[in-house]
Amino acid sequence: MQAVIFLLCTIGFVGIVGQLRADDGKCGYFDEVQMHKQDSFAVPTEHQWLARIAYSDNNHQVPTGGCMAVLISKRSLLAPAHCFVRFESKPEAFSVHLGVWNKTADVNQPTCLNGYCVLPAQEIKLAEISIHPEYDPLTFKNSLAVLTLQKDAKLTANVQPVCMPPPSVANDTLVGQMFMLAGIPVNKVLKNKSWVKTVSTPWCQSKHNSLLTSSTMVCGYLQQSELYHLGAPIVAVQVEGDLPKNFYLVGLQMDVLRVPNTQRYVASFLDVRPYLEYINNNAIFDLK
Ligand SMILES: *[C@@H]1O[C@H](CO)[C@@H](O)[C@H](O)[C@H]1NC(C)=O
Ligand SMILES: *[C@@H]1O[C@H](CO)[C@@H](O)[C@H](O)[C@H]1NC(C)=O
Ligand SMILES: *[C@@H]1O[C@H](CO)[C@@H](O)[C@H](O)[C@H]1NC(C)=O
Repeated sequence: MQAVIFLLCTIGFVGIVGQLRADDGKCGYFDEVQMHKQDSFAVPTEHQWLARIAYSDNNHQVPTGGCMAVLISKRSLLAPAHCFVRFESKPEAFSVHLGVWNKTADVNQPTCLNGYCVLPAQEIKLAEISIHPEYDPLTFKNSLAVLTLQKDAKLTANVQPVCMPPPSVANDTLVGQMFMLAGIPVNKVLKNKSWVKTVSTPWCQSKHNSLLTSSTMVCGYLQQSELYHLGAPIVAVQVEGDLPKNFYLVGLQMDVLRVPNTQRYVASFLDVRPYLEYINNNAIFDLK
């Protein structure tokens, strides 16, 4: 009996803290079982780099649609520039919620469901928003911002940065690939994920001409009929010696629309590789 109770407690505990020790130097936590599990939501310990942007000190005040950001180190995140700057306005945002899982839960309250508790999101104020110097608010080209936190994120099983793309993928095409998208669905409460199948830009422009595209974006079809907030990251698996090692960041969702007469969505994603120099110059990488 004691053993059973102990086991249940352990499982409950795993739910909160997880087996993962989020040490410095780790990024892109990958679990093959989690990756292939298609539940009604993503568990808190997957895609832990997902963050939500808050535009005022009121937890629930996000602009229409809202925006996500992706944690790339303890201090820095990436997000679409058009989440902050439209036309002539100045960049504005208040904080980010790291490790967000239930978007309606308060940041300082753990979410408990059937005895399974999840750490609350960490709210950290922003110190700086750096907008890419070639961002064009009319065409949304180069729509990338580096966000700097006022203090380090506390790395937990629910909060961990994603890896940046390894040099070995520098010239790989993003077309005709399957990537994994994680985000908070616009019309749902819990973090979720979907596979994305990418297509060529000419295909995208001819079939979906109102979708934003550019030479540094790729478009793709979401496998699930779920609409995700802008900024949702797509990731790929870094493999070494035929073994998956970690997830690395491929892109950020820039735009999305429903495919006419279907329940499906097509989205465009900014490829982060052309921006690595800008990111390195503006982000704080504390990780090895
Ligand atoms: C979450 O995603 C899965 C698979 O990607 C999908 O089957 C499910 O319907 C989604 N959950 C919700 C609440 O829509
Ligand atoms: C999400 O949080 C809200 C507010 O705390 C709560 O009412 C709801 O039950 C939670 N949903 C889930 C699935 O945990
Ligand atoms: C990618 O292309 C550049 C320019 O052609 C080349 O210098 C570099 O070695 C290539 N990198 C890889 C990993 O293939």
